[in-house]
Amino acid sequence: EKVLRTMSYRGPKEHGPLASEGRDYNDGGRDYDEGLRSREEEEPVDEPEKDKAKTSKVYTAADTLLATEESSMGTHALVIDYTFSPDWSFGINYTLPVFNLQDRDQLVILYAGAHVGVIYNHTSTSQHLLQGHGGPISCLCMSEDRRWLGTADNGREPLLIIWDSYTGIPVHTLFNGPTEGSVIALAFSKDAKYLATLGGGEQQVGQALINNMLHDIKEALSLPIYIIFNPGDSTELLSNSDSQVLFYKAVSAHFKGFNQSVGSLGQSLFHWRGQQALTATSAGNLVLWDEGDEAAGRNAIKLLPLQREAITVLTSTDRWIVTGDVLGHIKFYDENFRLMSWYSDFSLDAIASISFSKDAAPEPSQDYPESCILADQPFVSRSFVVSTVRATVVHVKTPGGGPQTLLREHCAPLHAVACHPRRPILAMGSHSGILKVCDYNTKLTLASRVYESERIQCLIFDPQGAWFYVAVGFASGAVHILDASSLHSDAEDCFHFSDNSITHITFSLDSMYLATAVTVTVFHLHSSPGSTTQQWQLVGRHISHYKPIRELLFGVHLDSTRPRLLSLAMDRRLVEYDLDSSMEQQLLVLSAERVEQSAVPQCMTWYPPLSTERFLLTASDQHKMKLLNSTTNMCRKTLLGPTYESPVQKMVVLPGSSYTYYLAFITKDKVGLQILPLDGNPYSSLAVVCHPGGVSQLVCSFDGRFVFTSGGADGTVLRWRINPHALQATAALGGSHLDPFYALLEGGRGGTLCREMEDLFYYCQLRHQGIDSMAPRQVSTSIPLTEVPFLMRALGFFPSEQELEDMQNEVKFSKYAETGKYVKEVDLAEFLRLYINHRPAFGISRKELAESFRVLGFWDGSGRMAIPRDQLLELLQARGEHMREDEVVECLTVLSGEHMREEVEGEGILPATGASEKHAANEGK
Ligand SMILES: *[C@@H]1O[C@H](CO)[C@@H](O)[C@H](O)[C@H]1NC(C)=O
Ligand SMILES: *[C@@H]1O[C@H](CO)[C@@H](O)[C@H](O)[C@H]1NC(C)=O
Ligand SMILES: *[C@@H]1O[C@H](CO)[C@@H](O)[C@H](O)[C@H]1NC(C)=O
Ligand SMILES: *[C@@H]1O[C@H](CO)[C@@H](O)[C@H](O)[C@H]1NC(C)=O
Repeated sequence: EKVLRTMSYRGPKEHGPLASEGRDYNDGGRDYDEGLRSREEEEPVDEPEKDKAKTSKVYTAADTLLATEESSMGTHALVIDYTFSPDWSFGINYTLPVFNLQDRDQLVILYAGAHVGVIYNHTSTSQHLLQGHGGPISCLCMSEDRRWLGTADNGREPLLIIWDSYTGIPVHTLFNGPTEGSVIALAFSKDAKYLATLGGGEQQVGQALINNMLHDIKEALSLPIYIIFNPGDSTELLSNSDSQVLFYKAVSAHFKGFNQSVGSLGQSLFHWRGQQALTATSAGNLVLWDEGDEAAGRNAIKLLPLQREAITVLTSTDRWIVTGDVLGHIKFYDENFRLMSWYSDFSLDAIASISFSKDAAPEPSQDYPESCILADQPFVSRSFVVSTVRATVVHVKTPGGGPQTLLREHCAPLHAVACHPRRPILAMGSHSGILKVCDYNTKLTLASRVYESERIQCLIFDPQGAWFYVAVGFASGAVHILDASSLHSDAEDCFHFSDNSITHITFSLDSMYLATAVTVTVFHLHSSPGSTTQQWQLVGRHISHYKPIRELLFGVHLDSTRPRLLSLAMDRRLVEYDLDSSMEQQLLVLSAERVEQSAVPQCMTWYPPLSTERFLLTASDQHKMKLLNSTTNMCRKTLLGPTYESPVQKMVVLPGSSYTYYLAFITKDKVGLQILPLDGNPYSSLAVVCHPGGVSQLVCSFDGRFVFTSGGADGTVLRWRINPHALQATAALGGSHLDPFYALLEGGRGGTLCREMEDLFYYCQLRHQGIDSMAPRQVSTSIPLTEVPFLMRALGFFPSEQELEDMQNEVKFSKYAETGKYVKEVDLAEFLRLYINHRPAFGISRKELAESFRVLGFWDGSGRMAIPRDQLLELLQARGEHMREDEVVECLTVLSGEHMREEVEGEGILPATGASEKHAANEGK
C-alpha cells in the first residue's frame, strides 16, 4: 500500500503535479515543494484546470532547462559549487531507447549514458545531465506529454527517479525500489497517472508492480524485458520476454505463451484503442491478441506474416503501425497491415528504438511522399528519432526531410582519450575502431576515422604540437602515428612489432621520442642529413618487467633538457632506460630499482616544482604516496594518500601557477582532486563517483579547467568542470595545523592514544638521557631521531627495517636541499605526522593475517592453515629482513612475559603449531 501511494502520483490534469507525500525533494525541489503546499492549501474543488496548474511553480516554470545559464540559475534557487561537476557526457548506452522530446522546431532527445540521463538539445548543442543514480541506468521512460521522465538504475542501492523534463529537477525519488532487485523496465500510462515497474529479482524472477499488487512472474521462463500500458485503459498492461507475453488487468495476471515456432518475441503494442494487442517476432511475424474477457484474458488469435526480416522495434503513431528491423529499415503499415510507406535508404544498422514527435504532422502537402497503395494520396507522418544498435541516432523530419545524424557514438568499450596540449581538443578511440577528434567547447567533430578490424587501446597527442601528431596504440599491438587534423597516416609511420595489446603510449616533452608498452619500445623522429623530411624510426625494444607495467613516463635530465624514460610496474621495479646509447634496435637499461617492499605501485607522475628538490610521485595499493628523489630514486617522503575504497589508479598534476598545484586522480570508480603539496591531511582531497562500472582513463585539459574520464566498458567519456575553491573550502573545514592529524588518531585529540603518545614521547626523552641518571634533566621539546623506531613500536606500529630507514631519511634530509644540514631530532608534531603518514592506512586486518598463514602455512587436515613452531622460528631467522637468534629470543621473552631457554626453541611459549582460525566468522577468537 505504501508503495502504491508513492508510485501512483496524481497526474497534472487532476490534482496538480505529483504525489502529496513530498518525501524526497532534492535541491531545486524545494521550490516545487513550496509550490505544492500552497496549492494544496487553497485547492478549490472545481477550479478550471488552467488556473490550477498555475499554482505549481514546477508546472508553470517558464524557463526550459537548456536555455542560457543565467536564466536557469534563476529557476533553481540553490546553486551549489561542487569541486567536480560533470558538464558533458560523450557516449550513449545504445541498448536503451532514445526518446524524442522535440518541441516544435527545437530538436531535443533523451538517452542514457552510463549512470546519467542525458537531455540533449541539438538545436543549441547543449546537454542537461540527469544526475543522481549511483549505478548504470537500466531503463528509462517518458510520459506521453513529454512532461515527466522516469529513470532507474541497477547499482548497489538502486533508485527510481521521476524528473520534470521542463526544469530537469528530480521531483520524486524512490530509494528502495518497489520491486525486489533493480528495476529493468518502466512505463507510464497514457495519462501519466500510473507508472509500472518491472524488477529482476535475485533469482532472476520477474516481478511486476501494478496497481498496488506485486505480481510474481515465476512461471516465466526468461526475464521479461518490456512493459507497456494499454493506452485506452490504464488498468491494463502487458509485459513480455522473448518467449512469453503477460497481460495484466487490474488485479489479475494472465500468462500467455504462443506455442508455435514464431521465433523469439520482440516488442508488443496495444492497438485499436486497446482492443487488440500485437507482438512482433524475430521471424518478421506479428502475433495478434484478441480483445479477451475478464475471466480468460486475451488469446493469440492470429499469426500475421509481415516481412522477412526480424522485427526489432514495434510502435505506433497516429494511424500507423511502425516497425524497425535488423536491416535498418523503417516501415509504416495501416491498420489492415498494408504497407503504406518505408524508409530503407538511410543505411542504418539494426534499429534499436523509434520515437515520434509529440507535435502532430504538418498538413498534407506535396512534400510528402506518396503512399504505396493509394496513388496520389500523400503519406503523412510525424517527425521521428531513430537509434541503432551501433550507437547512431538520426532524426527524420517530415515532410520531405532526409535523415539528420544527431549522434554517432562508440558502441564498444572506450578506453583511449587524450587532450591536445594547447587547444580545447579531445581525441577518443574505442574498441569499435572509431577514432574521433572533437572540439570539446563547440562539441564539433573535427575529424574521425574508422578502423574496421582494429580495437583502439590508447592515444596521445604530441606535446609540442609543432607537427601535430596523434599516436594510436591498438589491441593488436600495432602503433600508428597520424596527422591529427586529417587522421591520415603514411605507411612508414605504422609499426607492428608486438602481438600484445599496446597498453601505454607516450611522447617525450620535445616530441622527438615515442615510447610504448607492454614490451617497452622506443621510436625516434629521425631527420636524415641533408633532407628536410623527418621519419619515425625504431630505437629499440626491451622486456624490462615481469608483471604489468603501470606507468611509462618521459622526463628531462636536470642538467640538460635531454629526455629520459622511466617505467614502473607491478613487479615493484622502477626502470630507467638509456636513450642515448641505445642503438641497433637494442634498448639499454640504465638502472632498475625496487621501490616498494610489500606494496604494489599503481602509478607515478612528476611532482611539480614546489621545492628545490625534484621528485617523482608514486602511489601504491596501500593508499600511500611516495616522493622519490628524481636522481637517486631515494624515498624522501611517505604520505598517506587519499583513502577511498580502492587505491589511486592514475594521477595527473593539473597545470597551475608556481604556487598552487592540484593533483587529479582516479580510483576504481571515483575521480578526485588533491591539494599539493601533499602532507597526509585527509581533508585536502575529495572524490566523487564518476563511472560506477569502473573508470579507465583520466586526462586533463591544457588549461586545467576540465578533466575527462573514460569509463572503459560503459563506452562513455565525461567532462568534469573543476572548482578547486570548493576543495579549499572543504579543507579549511577540516581544521588547520595538526588538527586533521589528531583527528586521525583513534579517540582524537585528548583521547587515550593521543595521551599515550605524549607520555611515551616524554618517556623517550628521559630514556635517552638515562633513566637512572642523577644529572639535572635537560628539558626539550624533541627527541633524537634514533628513538623514533622504539616509539613507533611502543604505539603498536611495527615498521620493517626498510620503512624505518625511509622514515629516518625523510627527517634527516628534510631540510638538506635548502640548508645543506641534516636534521637529527623530531618534535611531537613532526612525530605525529610521521606516525600518521607511515602507519598502515587501515591498520592490519584479520584478512591480511589469514593471508600470511595461507602463504607460509599448509593445510593441517582439519581445514585450517597451520605453521609449525620450528618452521616459524626458521622463517623469522632466514627470510626477508631476518632476525638474529638472540633477537628472536628477546622478542618472544618480552611478548610472552616468560623467560626462555638459551637456544631458540620457543617451547612453552609457542604451541607446536600455530593455526589460523577455521572461519572468518569465528570473531573474537
Ligand atoms: C534548446 O535550445 C534552444 C536554443 O538555444 C532554446 O531556445 C530552447 O529553449 C532549448 N530547448 C529546451 C527544451 O531546452
Ligand atoms: C546499458 O544498459 C544496460 C542495462 O542497464 C546494461 O546492462 C549495459 O551494460 C549497458 N551498456 C553499456 C555499454 O553501458
Ligand atoms: C509448448 O509446446 C511444448 C512442446 O512442443 C510443450 O512442452 C510446452 O509445455 C508448451 N508450452 C505451452 C505454454 O503451451
Ligand atoms: C637528490 O638527493 C641528493 C642528496 O641526497 C641531492 O644532492 C640532489 O640534489 C637530489 N636530487 C634532486 C633532483 O633533487
